Amino acid sequence: MLILGIETSCDETAAAVVSGERRILSNIVYSQLSEHAPYGGVVPEIASRAHLQKIGGILLQAVAEAGITFRELDGIAATSGPGLIGGVIVGLMAGKGLAAALGKPFIGVNHLEGHALTARLTDNVPFPFLLLLVSGGHSQLVIVEEVGCYTLLGTTIDDAIGEAFDKTAKMLGFGYPGGAAVEKTAVGGNPNAFTLPRPLMGRAGCDFSFAGLKTAVWRTVETYRHPASRKAAAQDLVPTEKDPALALRAPQDDSNLCASFQAACGDILADRLSHAIAQFRERCPQGKHIVVAGGVAANNYLRARLKETSEKHGLTLVAPPLKLCTDNAAMIAWAGAERLSRGFSDGLDCRPRARWPLMEMASLREGHKTDEAIQ
Ligand code: KG4
Ligand code: ZN
Repeated sequence: MLILGIETSCDETAAAVVSGERRILSNIVYSQLSEHAPYGGVVPEIASRAHLQKIGGILLQAVAEAGITFRELDGIAATSGPGLIGGVIVGLMAGKGLAAALGKPFIGVNHLEGHALTARLTDNVPFPFLLLLVSGGHSQLVIVEEVGCYTLLGTTIDDAIGEAFDKTAKMLGFGYPGGAAVEKTAVGGNPNAFTLPRPLMGRAGCDFSFAGLKTAVWRTVETYRHPASRKAAAQDLVPTEKDPALALRAPQDDSNLCASFQAACGDILADRLSHAIAQFRERCPQGKHIVVAGGVAANNYLRARLKETSEKHGLTLVAPPLKLCTDNAAMIAWAGAERLSRGFSDGLDCRPRARWPLMEMASLREGHKTDEAIQ
């Protein structure tokens, strides 16, 4: 089975061809980063236009690199949510148009399900597994029992963890998105240099909270870049054109702050994961795997912390390779293959969704619910 996947829910225009035998034949990702960078975040209107400009060429490239023709495809899968609605519409319409023209099945994929099932593409992880989804928009712990069968154990009550990474990066004058820059800057830093809060840690349940940590980082940055506190270290000044106030910062402060921030995130994730493991064990005693997915799963420090926690509880942590953790279309094609092989496909009335929680996915157990049934 050969599936073409299309991903346009945020700021990557991506297309990939994946086989039902878990082979990635092509995986094209065009990042719009440079177009959004001047604005310090993703501008939805710019994203939609860029998707529209790029999608045609990227689809041709994905099929050409796979060494196949469109006619050889068995299905077309496109992200139909959640995400920035303009971008979702571009990819969804391209996918539906192709499916209609080729007379092939169409599968509307939930972007989060794409992240959730990636470890089955890369490592053939069996069901059930415990999923930790950590991305720019989500921090969730979910039991995955089958395609479409998800139980939410905990979610963020305020900001997503990726958002906390991106805001920290922004406060330090790094570009957007800043998660990878924070990780790089943390290398060699002292994780105990700054005392930062660990919201909800030690409390019952599996929910997350990152707003308090973000605010504490902001207060810390404000303090150490204040002229009075920096007088003594004048030789350490960092010149920056963007913000003269940031010029008062010493490089080691950044490094220590990023390390302290990451350590706080690591403690929070480890604590919440331990609680989720207890619930997973109770519900699925046969489950052996923990899967970490989403852009923040690219962070090596956090991966190491999660591995430690998993092993402590006798479970195996599976983390997809870095480029399959951040947004890509191979994960969408694979989710499409998983759905199509179970007889699930969607009509051309499949609609784009800005919001689409995993828990609202049609479940195999309950039968395939239609769009109307899950309203
Ligand atoms: O899954 P993703 O590519 O897009 C969403 O669906 O949100 O995740 C993007 C998020 C951003 O917040 C980005 O800063 C974060 O993943 N990220 C990282 C790293 N690489 C990307 N966060 C921490 N460390 C990294 N190395
Ligand atoms: Zn994502």
